[in-house]
Amino acid sequence: MVCLGNICRSPLAEEILRTKAIQHKLEIIVDSAGTSGQHIGEHPDKRTILNAKTHKIDLSKLKARQFSVSDFDNFDLVFVMDASNYSYVISLARNKNEIQKVQLILNTVYPNASLSVPDPYFGGVEGFENVFTILNNACEVIVKSLIMKNKKQNE
Ligand code: 4NP
Repeated sequence: MVCLGNICRSPLAEEILRTKAIQHKLEIIVDSAGTSGQHIGEHPDKRTILNAKTHKIDLSKLKARQFSVSDFDNFDLVFVMDASNYSYVISLARNKNEIQKVQLILNTVYPNASLSVPDPYFGGVEGFENVFTILNNACEVIVKSLIMKNKKQNE
């Protein structure tokens, strides 16, 4: 899961997806990163932590890191929050296979619409709840599609 700072959208997406995967007994490795190095080592934004807590999700132990080219070696899928994240991540890709790993997270819910998850950083608290709803829906679709993929592979 990738956003700009790795303190609002992507840590939330990481933990929502991890929680849903555990609930569905789906074994996956989930992580998040930012395109910017501005917040490296910081915990998620307090407003994100507080909002997630109201949904029983604990983000307090996560720490921001920057996306790096080695993430292409370690992950099969890279979900980005907006068009700017997409351009940055794609610029690091070394081949077509790596480019194909990258997708806008909302294209899982609204195929080909190329919508962005709004950045709540400069807005009010309602923006954080809105982002939670958006990412919760997207992660539900992602988990279901991974379960379907697993089932097909086992048939
Ligand atoms: P995020 O939000 O990309 O969802 O983590 C932001 C966090 C920090 C900044 C911008 C967006 N910033 O400008 O510091």
